[in-house]
Amino acid sequence: MAKYKTLDDFDLKNKVVLVRVDFNSEIDPNTKKVTSDVRIKAHAETTIKELAEKGAKTVILAHQGRKGDADYTPLEAHAEILGKILGCPVKYVDDVYGEKAQAAIKALQSGEILVLENVRSFDGETKKGTPEQHSKTPVVQNLAPLADLFMNDAFAAAHRGHVSMVGFTAVLPSCAGRIMERELKSLAKALEMPEHPCVYVMGGAKADDSLEISKYVLGNGIADYVLVGGVTSQLFLAAKGVDLGKKTMDFLAKKDLTQYLEGIKELLAKYPKAVVLPTDVALDVEGKRKEISVAELPTEYSIFDIGSKTVACFAAIIKDAKSIVVSGPMGVYENSEFNYGTKGVFEAIADSEGFSLAGGGNTIAAINEYGLSSKIGYISTAGGALIEFLMGKKLPGVVALENAVTEKKI
Ligand code: 3PG
Repeated sequence: MAKYKTLDDFDLKNKVVLVRVDFNSEIDPNTKKVTSDVRIKAHAETTIKELAEKGAKTVILAHQGRKGDADYTPLEAHAEILGKILGCPVKYVDDVYGEKAQAAIKALQSGEILVLENVRSFDGETKKGTPEQHSKTPVVQNLAPLADLFMNDAFAAAHRGHVSMVGFTAVLPSCAGRIMERELKSLAKALEMPEHPCVYVMGGAKADDSLEISKYVLGNGIADYVLVGGVTSQLFLAAKGVDLGKKTMDFLAKKDLTQYLEGIKELLAKYPKAVVLPTDVALDVEGKRKEISVAELPTEYSIFDIGSKTVACFAAIIKDAKSIVVSGPMGVYENSEFNYGTKGVFEAIADSEGFSLAGGGNTIAAINEYGLSSKIGYISTAGGALIEFLMGKKLPGVVALENAVTEKKI
């Protein structure tokens, strides 16, 4: 039984609902335009649509980028996109909690939607604090008295204990939105009660994350196998004692990854059979793919993909799996010479009869490129939050929902 409330637990008609969503999207650094509406769409078609249909007065709180970064923008464009997706007018006010924002909230009618300004324009938003401490901030003190309910739908930001993520739960009845609920239920399938054999496929270049996840899922009997590809697998091979060649080792050192060699060595010693590494790789030889076996290393060329024997080996393990989690591509998938590994392994996951879960920007981009999205059991909207969840960490946004007050206290 979930420890948090959902939309089903409240009568929403005419209620002012503060909804924290994660609209954080890719932004073109030159035009400042939103280039991917995936997250906006996810919230729009589920939680926000349902709130409007049930007659709530919906007030949206969201962030975009971080102050000082190129993708830090106001939310006017996001509100416009939301309106287009929903096919109805969406109001926007360039204020988070001041007089303009308060007046706009008071003027809302049943079924109307209002987007407030980027919550990170308030300086204290990203400071660390407990829900009780955050409830004393001007954002919560000014907005909560106008609201009946706080709804957190921002699973993708749930690893942030920021003001707008946790502060309202100390003073308002709170619940999870549909995306939050869907993410938590799907992730539970992969982490809390996976059907076995359970296989984690770790790729990409975030070797530190992959190491932490592997330790957690193998150490807690969650995964039976961890299949390693991408840049991460190069580091794992080096930790196993394979001489990759100077070029690759310099590359790994430049990416600051060699510091994890010792930790990976320990993992490999503890789980020699469960951690499965490539047996062959594809080299970039003047722009062309050349496969060699791991036994033939070292090489003076860059390693850009796993080899076809490795793909076959990974696919065979995936075929028998009942649960599969995938995060990160197997190679330089953006280049058609080197997408063989990613395509092959992802197709095997799509063809598997087991429950599959995928997350992370590159992973989702590759899944979409190969037209596999309808064959993946669940695609998470989250990046960092998903990684922290898979490492077994408690997410502050979720913990706050579980401990929320049940009556309005402001
Ligand atoms: C994300 O995109 O991972 C979330 O929106 C969190 O963004 P942040 O890393 O800037 O807190």
